[in-house]
Amino acid sequence: MDTFKKVTAIRGMNDVLPQASGRWERLEQHVRDWLRSYGYANLRTPVLEHTRLFTRGIGEVTDIVEKEMYTFTDALNGESLTLRPEFTAGTVRAAIEHNLLYDAPRRVYALGPVFRHERPQRGRYRQFHQVSVEALGFAGPDVDAEQILMLARLWKILGLKDIRLELNSLGAGEERAAHRAALIAYLEQHKDILDEDGLRRMYANPLRVLDTKNPALQEMAAGAPRLLDFLGEASRAHLDGVRARLDDAGIAYTINPRLVRGLDYYNLTVFEWVTDRLGAQGTVCGGGRYDGLIELVGGKPAPAVGFAIGMERLLDLWEQSKDEVVGQAVDVYVLHQGDAAARRALQLGEQLRDAGLDVIVHAGAASFKSQMKRADASRAAYAVILGDDELARGVASVKCLGDGSQQAVGFDALAGTLVDALSADGDAGMPEPSAAPPV
Ligand code: HAM
Repeated sequence: MDTFKKVTAIRGMNDVLPQASGRWERLEQHVRDWLRSYGYANLRTPVLEHTRLFTRGIGEVTDIVEKEMYTFTDALNGESLTLRPEFTAGTVRAAIEHNLLYDAPRRVYALGPVFRHERPQRGRYRQFHQVSVEALGFAGPDVDAEQILMLARLWKILGLKDIRLELNSLGAGEERAAHRAALIAYLEQHKDILDEDGLRRMYANPLRVLDTKNPALQEMAAGAPRLLDFLGEASRAHLDGVRARLDDAGIAYTINPRLVRGLDYYNLTVFEWVTDRLGAQGTVCGGGRYDGLIELVGGKPAPAVGFAIGMERLLDLWEQSKDEVVGQAVDVYVLHQGDAAARRALQLGEQLRDAGLDVIVHAGAASFKSQMKRADASRAAYAVILGDDELARGVASVKCLGDGSQQAVGFDALAGTLVDALSADGDAGMPEPSAAPPV
């Protein structure tokens, strides 16, 4: 008799278990709210697309297209299909197909799983999630800067630490061609010291030679012609326009002349947000301008700029940030003692939810001590405590589980006090007693 061999998940493709899914939902909610606040609307495209969309859109000679796509032939009709390795090409396809740019430019985003056959390690998976944000039909540089500003705001909303911005310009096609010729000439002069990889890439992808980790080549790489020096007036003005707006907003960045990105569709502005907190896979977000892609995929020429955030990396970094913001699973945990208080607690829970709060009302009888343990374990921001004494006085005790401070609040004022306290900037401190509604 056949024995059934245990089936496991595919390597590099992860289950999100119930103990982690709450964090995912919260993160996604923050991200969706943030996108809405900048006027971006959700566009949902299929997971599968025709393979040629990606080979054409992302570029034949890129790592993604050469070796990372999940491509297969549909056995029923012989079509070559590919699981999306990113969102931008599909978003552009959909925008063209549905004529989304007919009367005005569009701000859209997509959020969901994408697939790349890479070697799995921390922060690098074969199925991972991106939020991909695209401003279609905008020439910039104002919208390029706005996207960077909006990312800075997301990091602030999430309380992220140690994330920095790298910026570069890839100029226009002619400028890249002139730079490439100069770079190849330079590499030819240094042929004798190039390693095997360098020799192989010298003509196919000379920029990648400069990406080398080989210490013997660092000096040579540092002296190579820089694309930035090949920019014409218009490209330089575009970069200056982005930089001026970042300076206005007080956003720090470094110009990284080596930043080229791994997809072929970029021109002018490119950027990445990186951190040292995530080990080898420290790029949380990457993006830039892709003014040629819409035409390349068959649409009327229109400029565009966008970026994608790796959600697993964002979640990892978020979890390393402040506990009280990050770990919080619900807003409030309601504790109670005695029959009357238990019934009142159920009512209070409903009232607090009416006010938009997430609430767990303790179920079952237990000592205050063990209820308080549950409250801590729930990672609620506040405990609301109802005993006989409180009931008699018509108040509840509100305890901030972050700093342990406690105050009595009248039932009518309870929801308002908690909403104010929770919306008080990130640190979730309770308002000063004088600011709280009278008890
Ligand atoms: P990308 O740089 O290929 O750009 O990917 C964006 C982000 O996805 C990366 O910065 C990283 O956080 C995350 N990521 C990439 N590969 C993996 C992986 N194997 N495992 C986990 N996370 C990963 C794009 O995809 C462009 N479509 C971005 C864009 C949108 N440009 C313009 N619009």
